Amino acid sequence: MEAVAQPNPNAGEPRERSQQALTLGERLVRLAGLEFSQVDFLTAACRKLAGGSGAAALQLWVPEADRWLRADVDASGAASVTDLPRTSGDSDGAAICALAALEPVGWDHGLFVARPAGQPDQASAMLVPVPAARSPEAWLVVRGDGPDYVTRRSVDALVRAAGPLAVALDQQRAVAALRERVKEITSLMRLSRLEARADEDLDVLLAEIADLLPPAWQYPGITAAGLVVDAHTAVAGPADREPVAVLRAPVEIGDRHRGEIWVGYVEPRVALDDGPFLREERELLDTFARHVGAMLERRESREERARLETQLRHADRLATIGTLAAGVAHELNEPLGAVLGFSQLARRHEDLPQAAEDDLGKIEAAALHAREIVRQLMLFARQAPTEVQPVDTNQVVHDALSMLSSRCRRARVTPDLELGDPLPKVRADRSQLQQVVINLAVNAIQSMPEGGPLRIVTRAGGGAVELIVTDTGVGMPPEVAEKVFLPFFTTKEVNEGTGLGLAVVHGIVTAHGGTIALESAVGAGTTVRVSLPTDGHA
Ligand SMILES: Nc1ncnc2c1ncn2[C@@H]1O[C@H](COP(=O)(O)OP(=O)(O)OP(=O)(O)O)[C@@H](O)[C@H]1O
Ligand SMILES: [Mg+2]
Repeated sequence: MEAVAQPNPNAGEPRERSQQALTLGERLVRLAGLEFSQVDFLTAACRKLAGGSGAAALQLWVPEADRWLRADVDASGAASVTDLPRTSGDSDGAAICALAALEPVGWDHGLFVARPAGQPDQASAMLVPVPAARSPEAWLVVRGDGPDYVTRRSVDALVRAAGPLAVALDQQRAVAALRERVKEITSLMRLSRLEARADEDLDVLLAEIADLLPPAWQYPGITAAGLVVDAHTAVAGPADREPVAVLRAPVEIGDRHRGEIWVGYVEPRVALDDGPFLREERELLDTFARHVGAMLERRESREERARLETQLRHADRLATIGTLAAGVAHELNEPLGAVLGFSQLARRHEDLPQAAEDDLGKIEAAALHAREIVRQLMLFARQAPTEVQPVDTNQVVHDALSMLSSRCRRARVTPDLELGDPLPKVRADRSQLQQVVINLAVNAIQSMPEGGPLRIVTRAGGGAVELIVTDTGVGMPPEVAEKVFLPFFTTKEVNEGTGLGLAVVHGIVTAHGGTIALESAVGAGTTVRVSLPTDGHA
């Protein structure tokens, strides 16, 4: 654009007028250094420019990528900023005339003269180019009341201010961009500081993250922000007011969409790059969302690692105890066999006093009991010989329940079966599998002193058969749940439980290449899930 502000042709004018123009220019440049948003800056600049001009109305047109920002001020000093669409290259006076309903008259001494369309005799207008260095030209549009009101002389002060105004516009842009960058970096830095506390309660963490957002936006006072991750929500800013414009970015954790992060203005603001938001704000929100996703991903992988470590320690401890138990069981098995055998032999003696025979009977019963415990210890230690064959788990469930039917009746427990059909066979030792179902069912029955449903589900999935036993019994606290697979761990009375039931179940399931998991809540009940690999054909 070749039109630039011409030097003042009225060289001989009074000194104070040029002083006045200089001061206006200075004031504009100073304004640009203040902590104003672009909109506030344009309003304030327009007021200052209108102050000395005595015009009926003054507009400042500033080109942005695809729009004009137009600051308006009228004779009463009322000011506003609006945005209008702009096609690129569309920055000359004629284009503004078309948008502003003015009729171009032509160039006069570096100014563009126009008349309000349709009423050429009542008003006049003058367009002053403002040649900013780093962006397309801005324009001042001055309107007057009479046909000749706006003259070269009357806008002279504005012409002189055009140079400083151009500098001020560039500077304000630079200062504002810098300020936005500083806010952006500050909020990202605070976010990265939160990383050190990423293992705190998730709701507290999300609330702190949400708090970082409003100060990073152009109008913190009217900015609300929020985060949603799974079922957790946090909001910051004026939460009681519905936002009128919102920016959103998805929160992804390990490629999975898990929620979103949003920022909204609760009052309308003039349109900028992305609604009322800056392009940088859109990018900042995306960056924030990525960082939050990565932070939560690290948090979850730490949790997962801790969980796996516990599980591993647990499995390790059970394996160690298993080795010990196997040793003890082996050592006991032989002497027990001898005790049993010799006591049975001794009882066959004739002329044995009745008292001695009774005592031998007790020795035999105690030895049988001890051998049963040894057998269970061997099962736990995976030392029991197995007779593996294709087994129908549903049949095993039926058999086990028929053995327990009278016990169920007495305890007012009603079996509630949901057995998968068809169900692939598992390669297993049938009697050991039956032991699994019996031990789980007995625990369930014992946990429901008032009776209730004993739910057993079998189903196929992922090359395995799942056996799920659920009760609505007393449940157990976490400190009990983590010990249940240890041999001899029991919370029951001496004659009620040995604490070998679940240890045996664990031993049998792992010996069959399967897995077992237990969930329990005090007062709600317990679910035990056993998963056994299938033998590949139904
Ligand atoms: N379904 C359940 N509901 C509530 N607590 C349970 C349940 N199953 C197991 N428990 C808890 O786990 C402990 C260990 O169970 P486990 O079956 O190994 O031994 P036990 O039932 O005490 O004795 P045993 O099974 O040798 O007769 C129980 O004492 C009980 O505290
Ligand atoms: Mg038990």
